[in-house]
This record gives sequence, structure tokens and C-alpha cells, in this order.
Amino acid sequence: MSADLPCRIQTEVKRRRTFAIISHPDAGKTTLTEKLLLFSGAIQIAGSVKARKASRHATSDWMEIEKQRGISVASSVMQMEYRDCVINLLDTPGHQDFSEDTYRVLTAVDAALMVIDAANGVEPQTRRLLQVCRARNTPILTFVNKMDREVQDPLALMDEIERELGMTVVPFTWPVGMGKHFHGVMDLRQQQMRVFSPGEDRVGGDDEILQGLDNPAYAERFGMQYEQAQGEIELVQDAAAEFNHEEFLTGKQTPMFFGSAVNNFGVQEILDALVELAPAPGERAAMQRVVKPEESKFSGVVFKIQANMDPSHRDRIAFLRVASGHFERGMRLKVVRSGKELRPNTVVSFLSQRRELLDEAFGGDIIGIPNHGVLQLGDTITEGEALQFTGLPFFAPEMFRSVEVADPLKTKQLKAGLQQLGEEGAIQVFRPIAGSVLLLGAVGQLQFEVVAHRLEHEYGCKARISGSRFQVARWVTCEDEKELKRFIDANDHRMAYDAVDAPTVLVEYAPELRAIEANWPKIKFHALREHA
Ligand code: G4P
Repeated sequence: MSADLPCRIQTEVKRRRTFAIISHPDAGKTTLTEKLLLFSGAIQIAGSVKARKASRHATSDWMEIEKQRGISVASSVMQMEYRDCVINLLDTPGHQDFSEDTYRVLTAVDAALMVIDAANGVEPQTRRLLQVCRARNTPILTFVNKMDREVQDPLALMDEIERELGMTVVPFTWPVGMGKHFHGVMDLRQQQMRVFSPGEDRVGGDDEILQGLDNPAYAERFGMQYEQAQGEIELVQDAAAEFNHEEFLTGKQTPMFFGSAVNNFGVQEILDALVELAPAPGERAAMQRVVKPEESKFSGVVFKIQANMDPSHRDRIAFLRVASGHFERGMRLKVVRSGKELRPNTVVSFLSQRRELLDEAFGGDIIGIPNHGVLQLGDTITEGEALQFTGLPFFAPEMFRSVEVADPLKTKQLKAGLQQLGEEGAIQVFRPIAGSVLLLGAVGQLQFEVVAHRLEHEYGCKARISGSRFQVARWVTCEDEKELKRFIDANDHRMAYDAVDAPTVLVEYAPELRAIEANWPKIKFHALREHA
């Protein structure tokens, strides 16, 4: 290790910002992502992210299903530099059927940017995702988008966000008008107005800026919209809480910004806020100890696995969040769960959507390790230390289907496909103790369709997916191993093992589960399994 490495690690960690954008579908997440990349200089031509969204089937066959439905199924990772910072941006699937994947992505970030459609306010998917962020005390920045449309009154929106999401909202900017009469935003901290002009031609820094919040020229130029905004600002400044950085860092306060992503308006403020307010990577809990990002030894955790991103490779990419130390290409690493050595020579980073070979990475960075199944969701990778990071959630499925192969000669492909899709977290696969038919468990219906589609197109086997009588699943554990075995034997008609061989009890109705729980007081029933 070179003498100045510890120093470099510290400096590099400090300048990292790793965050996810969360929103309800159609609020403008893709548009904003693209604009963030554009403003940071990571891409020259606006439209490439959007184009990717529209033509993803060109890059990956199975994603055609996504194109057909116009939803974002897979998360992706983008890295960009802005001012002195390295920003890692993790995209999240907006559709609620993929929320499990999203939840896991949220364990890999240090902050989240919530995009709200100003016309629709807080929508169901935003609410769900926010719950996950709140549970982890993730700091949240709020961007209220589409101010160029006729939208809700900003005071009402602010009130709705506070009420629905249980956070104190602190406006950093305030809109002057909306829709056809949207004139811009008042920057309440810089005491200036950024004047809106529609169009996508500007890239930060060339907006018209007027000094002061009550410049005498405003009334004449912006008419009644200004007067109304002035009244609202007075109200907000009297009533709203002062911004408190600590409260923001613990997810209790959210700074709010208004803008219009499609018009490149308000994007600069968001980038500046990310750099100035969002935290650098912090320490992470492992079962054995707390790990600090500036430690010299490398460690990281796999939070997502995606198969066959590139059909010509047929590989799997494990997305790993670096928790500590310095990653160098070719270094010798250990998968703690299996004890296997890993010497990744072809680790990739995700610079503006291109997979690029990566030479080094630091705490907060996301790296992709192509592999053929050596890495599983939740795996901890170190230089040798026996560490296991905690907190990667698996949720008990809420829907079940049985799955059989249409052509019996393809049984092997079905098994291999399901094994991989299960390890990837695309679906949960259960092997019932009784009978040979595999069960699929999902959080949303769409997961079954994606799995059927991928089985056919990636593994060459048509699957017959049919209903199942089960409706509830719980993982079971017990401190007394004999008692657990007794439980499993007594319930073998409704027991199954999941992809990592965790025993699971399956029942048809919730009351049935309550009866079982009452009969087996020593057994613990879990709706959520954390990878251990
Ligand atoms: P998502 O990723 O959250 O699902 O949303 P996306 O960015 O795809 O945006 C959804 C729609 O909202 C798009 O329109 C997009 O152009 C539009 N949009 C995004 N930001 C703004 C904004 O600030 N103002 C207005 N008026 N519209 C905005 P679309 O019709 O679905 O697609 P397109 O044909 O415009 O590309």
C-alpha cells in the first residue's frame, strides 16, 4: 500500500455522494436523471436516457417487456462528477411490483431524491418508498416537478407532503406562478429570483437571475403571480421550520425545491443541494462490528444481481456497494459466505450508462462484478476479514404460483433458470418438502410475467405458471434446533425451502397462520428476512 493511500481514501470518501431517485411512475424521474447527467457534463446530448428508456429492447432482449409496459423494471447506476464531488446515482424501478428490488437499492444509498409531480402530489408508490427511507433514516431531498403545468397550489402541496410523509418540509425555493404563467422560482436562501424560460437549450448558469425577494421590478414584470408568491413566501417564512442539517441527515426534515425537469429548470439547484447537503458515505453495520468507509481494507456488500444485462455475454453482474477501503482491479478478495476467493479482473463501473472497466473505487461507489453465480444477494466481500453486513431485506411474498415446465425435456433449464432468477431476487423460489412442483413467490403480479418471459427468452424453456392455494408465507427460525426440526416435520405438507435453504411455512389464510403461531410458541415467524 502506498504511503499516501489512507489520506487518499479519506479525501475520496469525503467527496462521494451516493443517492437514489425515487418517485411514482411518470413524475419525471427519467427526465430528471437525464438532466442531472447533462448538467454535470456526464452526457453531452440530452435524450440519451430517454432514448434508452424507449428502446431498451435493443440493449437487452428481456427488457422488451418493460418497453411494452412503459415502466422501468431494472435499476441502473450512473456515476458523474460535479464540482469537486463524485456522484453515484442509482435509478430505481418505479412500478410497485418491483418494489422489492427498489428496497434493496435503497440500502445502498446515503440519501434519496424524491420527485413529486406537482399536479398529482404524493402518490402511492412515493409513499411506500418513503416508508423504507424513513425506516432507515435516509436523508431526503424533495423536487416538485412540472411547474410549467397547471398544478396544485404550492402551499397545499407542502402541507400534503408534510402530512402524508411525516416529515417537516423546508422550502429552499418558492415558485412564482405555474403553467402558462410560471415565471420562475425565488431562491429563499440566496435571496434572488431565477427567471423561467421554457426549452431545453440551457445548461446551468445561464438562467436570468434577479437580485432580492422583493425587487420593485417584480410586480410590474410578473404581475399577480408575483403578488401571490410574495404572500405565500411571507407565510412560509413565518410558519415553516428553519433548516437544520442534523434533522435533514436523520430524515426528519426535507429541503424542497420547485422546477421543471423537462425545461432544465431547477436542476442546478438540486445538484448543488446534493453536493452541499447530502452526506458523504458513513459507517455501516456488520454483524461483527461497525465498518468505517475510511478504513484501509476493502469491504463491500452485494445489494443487487442482474442477469444477462448484455445478451452477448450471458453473465450476471453483482452490484456491490463499497463500504470501506480502496478497490483496485485484480486485487484478491474473499466471498465471506462461501470462503471462495474472487479475483475480479473485469470489474465495471457505470459511467453515464456505459459499462466501463474500472481501475479503482472507494467507499460509496457502486461497482459491478461479472460472475457466474459465485456471488449472491447480500454477500459481503472483504480482503479476508470475516464480516457480514446486515440489513438487506427480503420480504415475505404476497402472491404464489406453481411453476412447471411445458416440455418435460426442458426440466433442467427450468431449474437452472429459476435458481438464477431466485438468486438475483427477481422472484422468490420455494421447494416444497412435499411434491416436486416448485412454487414462485412475488410481491407483485408483474414479477411472474417477467419471470415467464425471461425463462423463455434467456433459458429457452416455456414455463406453465398456474395458481397456488397458498397466500401467506413466513420464514421460521428457532433458537432450539430440535424444536425447529419438530416443527418442520409436523408441518411438512406446508413447508418449503427458499433459494438460500431458509425454511418457510406456507398457509392459505392469515387465521391459519395465527393458529400455528399459537400452537408453536417457541418458533419465530418472520415476514421479513435479512440476509445473514
Ligand atoms: P418517470 O421516469 O418518472 O416515469 O417519468 P418520465 O421522466 O418518463 O416523465 C413522464 C412524463 O412527464 C414524460 O412525458 C415527460 O416528458 C414529462 N415531464 C417530465 N418533466 C416534466 C416537466 O417538468 N414538465 C412537463 N410538462 N412534463 C414533464 P411523456 O409524454 O410520457 O413522454 P415524452 O413523450 O414527453 O417523452
